[in-house]
Amino acid sequence: MALSSPLSPLGQSPPRPDGPGKVTGATRYLDDLEVPGVWYGATVRSKVAAGRIRRVDGDAARALGAVVVTAADLPGPNVLKVIAEDWPVLAAERVEHVAQPIALVAAPTRELARRAAAAVVVEVDAEPAVFETTDPATTLPSGRDRVLASCRSARGDASGALANPAVVVVEGVYSTGHQEHVYIEPQGALAIPDREGHFEVIGSIQCPYYVHGALEHLFGPGSVRVRQAPTGGGFGGKEEFPDMLCAHVALLARASGHPVKIVYERSEDINGTTKRHPSRVRVRTGHAPDGTLLAVEIDAVLDGGAFITLSPVVLSRAVLHAAGPYRCENVTIEGRALATNTAPNGAFRGFGAPQTQFAMERHMDRAARALGLDPLTIRARNAYRPGDVTPTGQVLGDDTSALECLRVAAERADFLRRWTLHERARAAFHLRGLPAPGIGLSLFWHGTGFTGNGERKMRSPVRLALLADGAVEIRVAATDFGQGTEVVLAQIVADALGCELARVRFAEPDTDRVPDSGPTVASRTVSVVGSALFEAGQLLANELARAGGVVADLLAGQDELVVEAHYEPDPTTDFDEATYQGTAYAAYGYGCDVVEVEVCPDSLATTVQRALFVADVGHAIHPVLCAGQLEGGALQAIGQGTIEEMRLENGRYLQDRLTSYLIPTAQDAPDMETILLEHPSTMGPAGAKGVGELPADGGAPAVIAAIENATGIACGDAPATAERLLADLLAGHVVPGGSSVDPFGLELAR
Ligand code: MOS
Repeated sequence: MALSSPLSPLGQSPPRPDGPGKVTGATRYLDDLEVPGVWYGATVRSKVAAGRIRRVDGDAARALGAVVVTAADLPGPNVLKVIAEDWPVLAAERVEHVAQPIALVAAPTRELARRAAAAVVVEVDAEPAVFETTDPATTLPSGRDRVLASCRSARGDASGALANPAVVVVEGVYSTGHQEHVYIEPQGALAIPDREGHFEVIGSIQCPYYVHGALEHLFGPGSVRVRQAPTGGGFGGKEEFPDMLCAHVALLARASGHPVKIVYERSEDINGTTKRHPSRVRVRTGHAPDGTLLAVEIDAVLDGGAFITLSPVVLSRAVLHAAGPYRCENVTIEGRALATNTAPNGAFRGFGAPQTQFAMERHMDRAARALGLDPLTIRARNAYRPGDVTPTGQVLGDDTSALECLRVAAERADFLRRWTLHERARAAFHLRGLPAPGIGLSLFWHGTGFTGNGERKMRSPVRLALLADGAVEIRVAATDFGQGTEVVLAQIVADALGCELARVRFAEPDTDRVPDSGPTVASRTVSVVGSALFEAGQLLANELARAGGVVADLLAGQDELVVEAHYEPDPTTDFDEATYQGTAYAAYGYGCDVVEVEVCPDSLATTVQRALFVADVGHAIHPVLCAGQLEGGALQAIGQGTIEEMRLENGRYLQDRLTSYLIPTAQDAPDMETILLEHPSTMGPAGAKGVGELPADGGAPAVIAAIENATGIACGDAPATAERLLADLLAGHVVPGGSSVDPFGLELAR
């Protein structure tokens, strides 16, 4: 597609137009918006994880001057339509998780809203709730079937190959826990009743048209205009959940006749909103003695929480990435998402792929030890090369770079020499009482854009408007919530037009003004929306050329000239949803992370010292932002692998505030180095592949591999907290060659 010339803005790193406002504090986020006559909403939530609602009585709250909305007051169906129709706007007969919304109140002040919410009487007969994901045959107390979604991908004959006595079979079970997004700005939304039966909704959101669809389902067609406020982080957490919050403020605005705003407190946000799906993944592989993969058999279970929401598509991505970037003729992958009595788990950067690739990467380390190999050699034997075939039968293109990512990372980090050194020296560390050093790596891939035929169905329309002053306005539903969408899309359009970057503006994502170019998810903004914008830019450039470059001639008295283009996937590709055969993704990014740690032999606390991220991004449109995505995503994943822990007690998250749910801060961040490789894909502008989610796949397995190299503790569960590591040590999950740790002088080392 686009060819970046020396004059092209592609591959440069211009300043982002939204930057100064954010750095100086001038940017007005949702909570900063002042609206005359605004009321404040609050949410009455379930205190139990499962139960029958006996009574909801808002009279005392009304007596305080508040309006109260319950399920009985809804004008339309009590459901937020995502994939299925099972997610209630407000609990009606039953509650299915702690913090599930039961009633809403609004009042002229925040304080009064809080008091009114506390005055709503809710009586629930609690029932025994379900939190395990080991017994799919059971039902929830509501009678709901545990299986929310299932899917299967298979190629060749894995069970046949595993039965061959000449094959070395390695088996393991791996798990990951809930993870909270911790966007800096909590969820927030504002609804303004602007005319009879119509609202304007403004939210801290990723997907204006998702909210638009949800509210039209509730209030009828033509009832709503949705605008995105400047948004302080999302990571998937503001993908589907804002449908709920925006519906709530709209219901309160309708009931009160006032604009209504809700901004969640942090603990309310953590308790009530989506998390990353916890996972339990069983992996069985069969190998030739040199490590070559002859068979892969994977069974993945995701914890979906109480409602279906996005679980079917998260599961699909989990299954399609589960075997990792490794060639194998015989693969069977089965996946199920099971219901539990927690808030629905949902979109989170990586969307299922980090969970299954965590399992595969820890498993590759286990297989290497079983075969007497090292982590680099087993991966190099099996990493995808151009022309290899995935489990769905997709033939990988010339841009397939798994092996090169591995090679570049291993060379740069001097991986093999240092890993071997730590392996040999390990047993001696606890005797000296010194922090034990370790190094680990992970190799991973990530499909760009929607899974399967998603982009074909969406055909993302985008628009460019040429304005009288010669400026060109980008009109898309793609949102910037920190990634740099505004500047990167402008670079693509300026490249297509051959114009100055300053001439291109980014229109506010507003459903009255921009077409539905799809949600800002799935690493699809640069690759998919950017492709369509490049196309639109070329159309506009042609029009301008015909008019001799004179804007006034082209506009011929009109205010603006609008051109529209669509994203068109390669027409020769297809994906069969029934058989899971075909092109699962239009392109794949590849990455290799190397993480170095020191582990304290007494406390088992891990310090992450250094990290190297090598990623093939196709083409880095804005190298600074691209590297930032890789660093931030990997750090989030390193947090998932080490300290980000959520435990449940009677269905409530014990870590429900930032004093107990810890994420890596600037102080905890390792020294980071990023190397961008550019093997252009055939889909994105200038070959760009998605980069938003790729880094979420590699951090957790790499850091736990490093802990294993340092301590000898073989941990298959994320996060590998000190408590988890001690439990593994006590259970004898120690690799051959001894352990470098002996907490409390227990003489556990072997
Ligand atoms: Mo996402 S996790 O595709 O917002």
